[in-house]
Amino acid sequence: MKQRENFSSKLGIIVATAGSALGLGNIYRFPCEAGANGGGAFLIVYLAIALVIGTPLMISEFVIGRRAKSNPVGAFRLLSGKKSAWPVVGYLGVLCAFLILAFYTTVAGWTLGYLGKSIAGHFNHQDLTQIQGQFDSFTNHPWLPLACQLVFLALTAFVVARGVKDGIERWSKILMPLLLVIMVVLCVKSLTLSGAAEGLRFFFKPDFSKINGRVLISALGQSFFSLSIGMGALITYGSYISKKDNMVSSAVSVVLADTMVAVLAGVIIFPAAFSFGIQPEAGASLAFTTLPMVFQQMTGGYFFCIIFFLLLVIATLTSTISLLEVIVATLTEELQLTRSKASIVGAVGTAAIGVLATLSFRTGSPLHIAGNTFFDLLDHVTALYFMPLGGLLIVLFVGWKMERADTMDELTNGGSLKAGLRKAIMFIIRYLAPVAIGVIFISQLLA
Ligand code: PHE
Repeated sequence: MKQRENFSSKLGIIVATAGSALGLGNIYRFPCEAGANGGGAFLIVYLAIALVIGTPLMISEFVIGRRAKSNPVGAFRLLSGKKSAWPVVGYLGVLCAFLILAFYTTVAGWTLGYLGKSIAGHFNHQDLTQIQGQFDSFTNHPWLPLACQLVFLALTAFVVARGVKDGIERWSKILMPLLLVIMVVLCVKSLTLSGAAEGLRFFFKPDFSKINGRVLISALGQSFFSLSIGMGALITYGSYISKKDNMVSSAVSVVLADTMVAVLAGVIIFPAAFSFGIQPEAGASLAFTTLPMVFQQMTGGYFFCIIFFLLLVIATLTSTISLLEVIVATLTEELQLTRSKASIVGAVGTAAIGVLATLSFRTGSPLHIAGNTFFDLLDHVTALYFMPLGGLLIVLFVGWKMERADTMDELTNGGSLKAGLRKAIMFIIRYLAPVAIGVIFISQLLA
Protein backbone atom coordinates (compact mmCIF):
# COMPACT_ATOMS: atom_id res chain seq x y z
CA MET A 1 0.00 0.00 0.00
CA LYS A 2 1.07 3.54 -0.67
CA GLN A 3 2.71 5.35 2.23
CA ARG A 4 0.16 7.74 3.77
CA GLU A 5 1.13 11.37 4.00
CA ASN A 6 1.67 13.09 7.33
CA PHE A 7 1.47 16.71 8.32
CA SER A 8 5.00 18.02 8.47
CA SER A 9 5.01 19.32 12.02
CA LYS A 10 2.95 20.23 15.02
CA LEU A 11 2.45 23.65 13.48
CA GLY A 12 1.21 21.83 10.40
CA ILE A 13 -1.54 20.07 12.38
CA ILE A 14 -2.58 23.22 14.15
CA VAL A 15 -2.67 25.14 10.90
CA ALA A 16 -4.64 22.49 9.05
CA THR A 17 -7.08 21.86 11.89
CA ALA A 18 -7.54 25.57 12.49
CA GLY A 19 -8.04 25.93 8.75
CA SER A 20 -10.86 23.41 8.97
CA ALA A 21 -12.36 24.96 12.08
CA LEU A 22 -12.18 28.63 11.10
CA GLY A 23 -14.63 29.55 8.43
CA LEU A 24 -18.21 30.50 7.83
CA GLY A 25 -19.13 28.73 11.04
CA ASN A 26 -17.41 31.52 12.96
CA ILE A 27 -18.16 34.54 10.87
CA TYR A 28 -21.54 33.76 9.36
CA ARG A 29 -23.24 31.00 11.37
CA PHE A 30 -22.16 31.94 14.90
CA PRO A 31 -23.61 35.49 14.82
CA CYS A 32 -26.70 34.11 13.14
CA GLU A 33 -27.30 31.55 15.91
CA ALA A 34 -26.34 33.90 18.74
CA GLY A 35 -28.68 36.53 17.32
CA ALA A 36 -31.59 34.11 17.05
CA ASN A 37 -31.03 32.58 20.50
CA GLY A 38 -30.87 35.56 22.81
CA GLY A 39 -27.26 36.79 22.47
CA GLY A 40 -25.61 36.58 25.89
CA ALA A 41 -27.54 33.48 26.97
CA PHE A 42 -26.32 31.67 23.89
CA LEU A 43 -22.75 32.88 24.27
CA ILE A 44 -22.32 31.53 27.77
CA VAL A 45 -23.65 28.08 26.91
CA TYR A 46 -21.61 28.07 23.73
CA LEU A 47 -18.37 28.86 25.56
CA ALA A 48 -18.99 26.20 28.18
CA ILE A 49 -19.70 23.52 25.60
CA ALA A 50 -16.90 24.47 23.20
CA LEU A 51 -14.25 24.47 25.92
CA VAL A 52 -15.37 21.66 28.20
CA ILE A 53 -16.89 19.21 25.71
CA GLY A 54 -15.41 20.42 22.41
CA THR A 55 -11.77 20.02 23.41
CA PRO A 56 -12.01 16.40 24.63
CA LEU A 57 -14.11 15.49 21.61
CA MET A 58 -11.54 16.97 19.26
CA ILE A 59 -8.84 15.00 21.09
CA SER A 60 -10.96 11.83 20.80
CA GLU A 61 -11.15 12.23 17.03
CA PHE A 62 -7.39 12.70 16.84
CA VAL A 63 -6.91 9.56 18.96
CA ILE A 64 -9.08 7.48 16.63
CA GLY A 65 -7.52 8.91 13.50
CA ARG A 66 -3.91 8.57 14.53
CA ARG A 67 -4.35 5.12 16.07
CA ALA A 68 -5.98 3.73 12.94
CA LYS A 69 -4.22 5.90 10.34
CA SER A 70 -7.31 5.65 8.22
CA ASN A 71 -10.44 7.39 6.98
CA PRO A 72 -13.41 7.39 9.41
CA VAL A 73 -15.02 4.23 8.02
CA GLY A 74 -11.78 2.29 7.98
CA ALA A 75 -10.77 3.66 11.37
CA PHE A 76 -13.83 2.34 13.16
CA ARG A 77 -13.47 -0.99 11.39
CA LEU A 78 -9.81 -1.35 12.28
CA LEU A 79 -10.26 -0.38 15.91
CA SER A 80 -13.43 -2.29 16.67
CA GLY A 81 -12.67 -5.68 15.19
CA LYS A 82 -14.66 -7.81 12.78
CA LYS A 83 -18.43 -7.91 12.63
CA SER A 84 -18.87 -4.77 14.64
CA ALA A 85 -21.48 -2.10 13.92
CA TRP A 86 -19.09 0.76 14.75
CA PRO A 87 -18.11 1.51 11.13
CA VAL A 88 -21.65 2.86 10.79
CA VAL A 89 -20.40 5.89 12.74
CA GLY A 90 -17.83 6.39 10.00
CA TYR A 91 -20.46 6.14 7.28
CA LEU A 92 -22.66 8.61 9.12
CA GLY A 93 -19.69 10.98 9.23
CA VAL A 94 -19.08 10.72 5.51
CA LEU A 95 -22.75 11.31 4.79
CA CYS A 96 -22.69 14.28 7.15
CA ALA A 97 -19.61 15.74 5.42
CA PHE A 98 -21.43 15.46 2.13
CA LEU A 99 -24.60 17.15 3.43
CA ILE A 100 -22.66 19.96 5.11
CA LEU A 101 -20.61 20.54 2.00
CA ALA A 102 -23.82 20.81 -0.02
CA PHE A 103 -25.22 23.78 1.91
CA TYR A 104 -21.88 25.22 3.04
CA THR A 105 -20.88 25.82 -0.56
CA THR A 106 -24.02 27.92 -1.03
CA VAL A 107 -22.68 30.49 1.42
CA ALA A 108 -19.13 29.87 0.22
CA GLY A 109 -20.38 30.94 -3.20
CA TRP A 110 -21.83 34.11 -1.69
CA THR A 111 -18.40 35.01 -0.29
CA LEU A 112 -16.99 34.75 -3.81
CA GLY A 113 -19.88 36.83 -5.14
CA TYR A 114 -19.33 39.41 -2.41
CA LEU A 115 -15.63 39.53 -3.22
CA GLY A 116 -16.57 40.37 -6.79
CA LYS A 117 -19.09 42.95 -5.64
CA SER A 118 -16.59 44.62 -3.34
CA ILE A 119 -14.03 44.86 -6.14
CA ALA A 120 -16.71 46.36 -8.41
CA GLY A 121 -17.45 48.93 -5.70
CA HIS A 122 -21.10 47.90 -5.27
CA PHE A 123 -21.07 48.76 -1.58
CA ASN A 124 -19.83 52.34 -1.98
CA HIS A 125 -22.26 55.05 -0.89
CA GLN A 126 -25.16 52.71 -0.26
CA ASP A 127 -27.68 53.01 2.53
CA LEU A 128 -29.00 50.11 4.57
CA THR A 129 -32.02 49.50 2.36
CA GLN A 130 -29.81 49.34 -0.70
CA ILE A 131 -27.34 46.95 0.95
CA GLN A 132 -30.18 44.71 2.06
CA GLY A 133 -31.62 44.92 -1.43
CA GLN A 134 -28.28 43.77 -2.84
CA PHE A 135 -28.36 40.65 -0.68
CA ASP A 136 -31.86 39.83 -1.89
CA SER A 137 -31.11 40.45 -5.52
CA PHE A 138 -27.86 38.47 -5.36
CA THR A 139 -29.46 35.42 -3.73
CA ASN A 140 -32.39 35.69 -6.18
CA HIS A 141 -30.23 36.08 -9.27
CA PRO A 142 -31.05 33.32 -11.78
CA TRP A 143 -27.54 31.94 -12.16
CA LEU A 144 -24.91 34.00 -10.34
CA PRO A 145 -25.08 32.29 -6.92
CA LEU A 146 -25.12 28.89 -8.63
CA ALA A 147 -22.08 29.76 -10.72
CA CYS A 148 -20.25 31.01 -7.62
CA GLN A 149 -21.09 27.81 -5.74
CA LEU A 150 -19.85 25.60 -8.56
CA VAL A 151 -16.63 27.58 -8.96
CA PHE A 152 -16.07 27.23 -5.24
CA LEU A 153 -16.59 23.48 -5.36
CA ALA A 154 -14.27 23.16 -8.33
CA LEU A 155 -11.56 25.11 -6.46
CA THR A 156 -11.99 22.82 -3.46
CA ALA A 157 -11.76 19.69 -5.60
CA PHE A 158 -8.67 21.04 -7.32
CA VAL A 159 -6.82 21.59 -4.04
CA VAL A 160 -7.93 18.27 -2.52
CA ALA A 161 -6.94 16.32 -5.63
CA ARG A 162 -3.36 17.54 -5.15
CA GLY A 163 -3.05 16.01 -1.70
CA VAL A 164 -3.06 16.84 1.94
CA LYS A 165 0.25 18.48 2.58
CA ASP A 166 0.68 20.53 -0.51
CA GLY A 167 -2.93 21.47 -0.69
CA ILE A 168 -3.89 22.16 2.85
CA GLU A 169 -0.95 23.26 4.92
CA ARG A 170 0.50 25.78 2.57
CA TRP A 171 -2.66 27.84 2.17
CA SER A 172 -3.45 28.57 5.77
CA LYS A 173 -0.10 29.39 7.31
CA ILE A 174 0.10 33.06 6.48
CA LEU A 175 -3.46 33.85 5.56
CA MET A 176 -5.28 32.86 8.74
CA PRO A 177 -3.26 35.20 10.98
CA LEU A 178 -3.94 37.94 8.45
CA LEU A 179 -7.68 37.34 8.75
CA LEU A 180 -7.34 37.77 12.49
CA VAL A 181 -5.58 41.10 12.03
CA ILE A 182 -8.27 42.47 9.78
CA MET A 183 -10.94 41.27 12.18
CA VAL A 184 -9.30 43.18 15.00
CA VAL A 185 -9.34 46.33 12.86
CA LEU A 186 -13.03 45.77 12.12
CA CYS A 187 -13.74 45.22 15.77
CA VAL A 188 -12.23 48.57 16.71
CA LYS A 189 -14.33 50.28 14.06
CA SER A 190 -17.50 48.54 15.12
CA LEU A 191 -17.02 49.43 18.78
CA THR A 192 -16.68 53.12 17.99
CA LEU A 193 -19.97 53.34 16.08
CA SER A 194 -22.73 55.22 17.83
CA GLY A 195 -25.09 52.88 19.64
CA ALA A 196 -22.43 50.14 19.84
CA ALA A 197 -22.94 49.68 23.59
CA GLU A 198 -26.40 48.28 23.11
CA GLY A 199 -25.05 45.58 20.80
CA LEU A 200 -22.36 44.70 23.31
CA ARG A 201 -24.96 44.39 26.03
CA PHE A 202 -27.00 42.07 23.83
CA PHE A 203 -24.00 39.86 23.14
CA PHE A 204 -22.33 39.78 26.54
CA LYS A 205 -25.09 40.18 29.10
CA PRO A 206 -26.65 36.78 29.65
CA ASP A 207 -30.33 36.67 30.45
CA PHE A 208 -30.37 33.29 32.15
CA SER A 209 -34.13 33.04 31.87
CA LYS A 210 -33.63 32.71 28.11
CA ILE A 211 -31.67 29.47 28.40
CA ASN A 212 -33.98 26.69 27.25
CA GLY A 213 -33.69 23.40 25.37
CA ARG A 214 -33.54 25.17 22.05
CA VAL A 215 -30.65 27.38 23.16
CA LEU A 216 -28.77 24.37 24.54
CA ILE A 217 -29.02 22.25 21.40
CA SER A 218 -28.32 25.23 19.15
CA ALA A 219 -25.18 26.05 21.13
CA LEU A 220 -24.11 22.40 21.09
CA GLY A 221 -24.68 22.14 17.34
CA GLN A 222 -22.91 25.42 16.70
CA SER A 223 -19.88 24.51 18.77
CA PHE A 224 -19.52 21.13 17.01
CA PHE A 225 -20.04 22.76 13.64
CA SER A 226 -17.53 25.50 14.35
CA LEU A 227 -14.90 23.09 15.67
CA SER A 228 -15.48 20.63 12.80
CA ILE A 229 -16.18 17.83 15.27
CA GLY A 230 -18.70 15.00 15.49
CA MET A 231 -18.49 13.81 11.89
CA GLY A 232 -15.01 12.53 11.19
CA ALA A 233 -13.23 15.51 9.62
CA LEU A 234 -10.78 15.48 12.49
CA ILE A 235 -10.52 11.69 12.49
CA THR A 236 -9.33 12.13 8.94
CA TYR A 237 -6.91 14.92 9.84
CA GLY A 238 -5.86 12.97 12.94
CA SER A 239 -4.78 10.16 10.66
CA TYR A 240 -2.17 12.49 9.18
CA ILE A 241 -0.67 13.44 12.56
CA SER A 242 2.71 11.88 13.17
CA LYS A 243 3.37 9.75 16.24
CA LYS A 244 5.61 12.28 17.93
CA ASP A 245 3.32 15.30 17.81
CA ASN A 246 1.36 16.46 20.83
CA MET A 247 -2.33 16.13 20.00
CA VAL A 248 -3.61 17.47 23.27
CA SER A 249 -1.87 20.81 23.11
CA SER A 250 -2.68 21.11 19.41
CA ALA A 251 -6.37 20.59 20.12
CA VAL A 252 -6.32 23.14 22.92
CA SER A 253 -4.71 25.75 20.66
CA VAL A 254 -7.25 25.18 17.91
CA VAL A 255 -10.25 25.34 20.24
CA LEU A 256 -8.98 28.58 21.77
CA ALA A 257 -8.29 30.15 18.38
CA ASP A 258 -11.65 29.10 16.97
CA THR A 259 -13.54 30.37 19.99
CA MET A 260 -11.67 33.64 19.91
CA VAL A 261 -12.54 34.22 16.28
CA ALA A 262 -16.22 33.45 16.89
CA VAL A 263 -16.36 35.89 19.80
CA LEU A 264 -14.54 38.47 17.73
CA ALA A 265 -17.11 38.04 14.96
CA GLY A 266 -19.83 38.71 17.53
CA VAL A 267 -18.04 41.81 18.76
CA ILE A 268 -17.91 43.05 15.18
CA ILE A 269 -21.44 42.15 14.11
CA PHE A 270 -23.67 42.99 17.09
CA PRO A 271 -22.54 46.51 17.94
CA ALA A 272 -22.68 47.38 14.24
CA ALA A 273 -26.05 45.70 13.69
CA PHE A 274 -27.57 47.61 16.62
CA SER A 275 -25.99 50.81 15.44
CA PHE A 276 -27.44 50.47 11.91
CA GLY A 277 -30.80 49.15 13.03
CA ILE A 278 -30.33 45.60 11.66
CA GLN A 279 -32.26 42.95 13.60
CA PRO A 280 -29.99 40.42 15.38
CA GLU A 281 -32.48 37.75 14.29
CA ALA A 282 -32.01 38.68 10.63
CA GLY A 283 -30.66 35.19 9.88
CA ALA A 284 -28.74 34.44 6.71
CA SER A 285 -28.39 38.09 5.72
CA LEU A 286 -27.01 39.27 9.09
CA ALA A 287 -23.29 39.10 8.30
CA PHE A 288 -23.78 39.93 4.63
CA THR A 289 -25.53 43.21 5.35
CA THR A 290 -23.79 44.26 8.55
CA LEU A 291 -20.21 43.86 7.31
CA PRO A 292 -20.53 45.89 4.09
CA MET A 293 -22.21 48.61 6.18
CA VAL A 294 -19.23 48.70 8.56
CA PHE A 295 -16.73 48.94 5.70
CA GLN A 296 -18.66 51.79 4.28
CA GLN A 297 -18.11 53.82 7.43
CA MET A 298 -14.36 53.25 7.41
CA THR A 299 -11.64 55.29 5.80
CA GLY A 300 -10.16 52.99 3.19
CA GLY A 301 -13.26 50.83 3.54
CA TYR A 302 -13.21 49.93 -0.14
CA PHE A 303 -9.83 48.20 0.23
CA PHE A 304 -10.56 46.68 3.61
CA CYS A 305 -13.73 45.19 2.20
CA ILE A 306 -11.86 43.53 -0.66
CA ILE A 307 -9.15 42.15 1.60
CA PHE A 308 -11.72 40.92 4.10
CA PHE A 309 -13.80 39.01 1.55
CA LEU A 310 -10.65 37.61 -0.04
CA LEU A 311 -9.50 36.26 3.31
CA LEU A 312 -12.98 34.97 4.07
CA VAL A 313 -12.98 33.08 0.78
CA ILE A 314 -9.69 31.48 1.78
CA ALA A 315 -10.83 30.66 5.33
CA THR A 316 -13.92 29.09 3.81
CA LEU A 317 -11.85 27.16 1.30
CA THR A 318 -9.71 25.57 4.01
CA SER A 319 -12.97 24.36 5.61
CA THR A 320 -14.49 22.97 2.41
CA ILE A 321 -11.18 21.23 1.77
CA SER A 322 -11.45 19.40 5.08
CA LEU A 323 -15.03 18.37 4.31
CA LEU A 324 -14.19 17.04 0.88
CA GLU A 325 -11.11 15.33 2.31
CA VAL A 326 -13.36 13.13 4.47
CA ILE A 327 -15.15 11.91 1.36
CA VAL A 328 -11.98 11.59 -0.71
CA ALA A 329 -9.98 9.73 1.98
CA THR A 330 -12.86 7.28 2.27
CA LEU A 331 -13.30 6.77 -1.47
CA THR A 332 -9.57 6.32 -2.09
CA GLU A 333 -9.00 3.90 0.78
CA GLU A 334 -12.26 1.98 0.76
CA LEU A 335 -12.96 1.87 -2.98
CA GLN A 336 -9.40 2.34 -4.28
CA LEU A 337 -10.28 5.35 -6.44
CA THR A 338 -7.43 7.70 -7.33
CA ARG A 339 -7.38 11.04 -5.51
CA SER A 340 -8.36 12.92 -8.65
CA LYS A 341 -11.28 10.63 -9.41
CA ALA A 342 -12.44 10.66 -5.82
CA SER A 343 -12.29 14.48 -5.73
CA ILE A 344 -14.38 14.71 -8.88
CA VAL A 345 -16.93 12.16 -7.66
CA GLY A 346 -17.19 13.98 -4.31
CA ALA A 347 -17.58 17.39 -5.90
CA VAL A 348 -20.12 16.32 -8.50
CA GLY A 349 -22.20 14.48 -5.91
CA THR A 350 -22.13 17.53 -3.66
CA ALA A 351 -23.07 19.83 -6.51
CA ALA A 352 -26.17 17.76 -7.26
CA ILE A 353 -27.62 18.46 -3.81
CA GLY A 354 -25.88 21.78 -3.27
CA VAL A 355 -27.56 23.59 -6.14
CA LEU A 356 -30.93 22.82 -4.55
CA ALA A 357 -29.77 24.47 -1.33
CA THR A 358 -28.76 27.56 -3.30
CA LEU A 359 -31.98 27.66 -5.30
CA SER A 360 -34.07 27.34 -2.14
CA PHE A 361 -33.11 30.92 -1.22
CA ARG A 362 -35.08 32.35 -4.09
CA THR A 363 -38.31 34.08 -3.19
CA GLY A 364 -41.24 31.82 -3.94
CA SER A 365 -38.98 28.79 -4.48
CA PRO A 366 -40.85 25.50 -4.10
CA LEU A 367 -37.85 24.12 -2.22
CA HIS A 368 -39.44 24.84 1.14
CA ILE A 369 -40.24 22.10 3.57
CA ALA A 370 -42.49 22.87 6.54
CA GLY A 371 -41.75 26.58 6.30
CA ASN A 372 -37.97 26.09 6.08
CA THR A 373 -35.79 26.37 3.03
CA PHE A 374 -34.04 23.23 1.83
CA PHE A 375 -30.85 25.01 2.89
CA ASP A 376 -32.13 25.31 6.47
CA LEU A 377 -33.15 21.71 6.44
CA LEU A 378 -29.62 20.53 5.56
CA ASP A 379 -28.18 22.91 8.14
CA HIS A 380 -30.51 21.70 10.92
CA VAL A 381 -30.23 18.02 10.13
CA THR A 382 -26.44 18.13 10.24
CA ALA A 383 -25.82 20.52 13.15
CA LEU A 384 -28.71 19.49 15.39
CA TYR A 385 -28.82 15.74 14.71
CA PHE A 386 -25.84 14.26 12.87
CA MET A 387 -23.07 16.08 14.72
CA PRO A 388 -24.39 15.68 18.27
CA LEU A 389 -25.12 12.00 17.59
CA GLY A 390 -21.74 11.51 15.92
CA GLY A 391 -20.00 13.31 18.79
CA LEU A 392 -21.77 11.16 21.36
CA LEU A 393 -20.79 7.93 19.59
CA ILE A 394 -17.19 9.10 19.19
CA VAL A 395 -16.66 9.83 22.88
CA LEU A 396 -18.39 6.56 23.79
CA PHE A 397 -16.08 4.72 21.41
CA VAL A 398 -12.90 6.27 22.78
CA GLY A 399 -14.06 6.13 26.39
CA TRP A 400 -15.55 2.66 26.49
CA LYS A 401 -14.82 0.62 23.41
CA MET A 402 -11.16 1.26 22.64
CA GLU A 403 -8.55 -0.40 24.80
CA ARG A 404 -7.77 2.02 27.59
CA ALA A 405 -4.07 1.33 27.23
CA ASP A 406 -4.21 2.23 23.53
CA THR A 407 -6.00 5.48 24.25
CA MET A 408 -3.53 6.46 26.96
CA ASP A 409 -0.71 5.46 24.65
CA GLU A 410 -2.03 7.90 22.05
CA LEU A 411 -2.69 10.64 24.58
CA THR A 412 0.78 10.41 26.10
CA ASN A 413 2.68 9.58 22.88
CA GLY A 414 3.69 6.20 24.21
CA GLY A 415 4.30 7.42 27.75
CA SER A 416 6.61 10.30 26.89
CA LEU A 417 4.12 13.02 27.85
CA LYS A 418 2.78 13.64 31.35
CA ALA A 419 -0.36 11.66 32.20
CA GLY A 420 -1.91 14.00 34.82
CA LEU A 421 -3.98 16.29 32.61
CA ARG A 422 -4.72 13.37 30.34
CA LYS A 423 -6.48 11.49 33.11
CA ALA A 424 -8.82 14.45 33.52
CA ILE A 425 -9.46 14.42 29.79
CA MET A 426 -10.27 10.72 29.97
CA PHE A 427 -12.75 11.43 32.73
CA ILE A 428 -14.57 13.96 30.57
CA ILE A 429 -14.49 11.59 27.60
CA ARG A 430 -15.91 8.70 29.58
CA TYR A 431 -18.47 10.42 31.80
CA LEU A 432 -19.09 14.12 31.44
CA ALA A 433 -19.21 14.43 27.65
CA PRO A 434 -21.54 11.50 26.92
CA VAL A 435 -23.93 12.54 29.68
CA ALA A 436 -23.99 16.20 28.64
CA ILE A 437 -24.35 15.51 24.91
CA GLY A 438 -26.87 12.75 25.57
CA VAL A 439 -29.07 14.85 27.85
CA ILE A 440 -29.12 17.85 25.50
CA PHE A 441 -29.74 15.66 22.46
CA ILE A 442 -32.50 13.59 24.00
CA SER A 443 -34.24 16.57 25.54
CA GLN A 444 -34.52 18.13 22.09
CA LEU A 445 -35.96 14.92 20.67
CA LEU A 446 -38.60 14.94 23.39
CA ALA A 447 -39.36 18.64 23.19
N1 PHE B 1 -15.84 24.34 11.12
C1 PHE B 1 -16.14 24.87 9.85
C2 PHE B 1 -16.55 26.33 10.04
O1 PHE B 1 -16.67 26.78 11.13
C3 PHE B 1 -17.20 24.08 9.13
C4 PHE B 1 -16.93 22.63 9.12
C5 PHE B 1 -17.79 21.76 9.77
C6 PHE B 1 -15.79 22.12 8.52
C7 PHE B 1 -17.53 20.39 9.81
C8 PHE B 1 -15.52 20.77 8.55
C9 PHE B 1 -16.37 19.92 9.19
O2 PHE B 1 -16.75 27.03 9.11
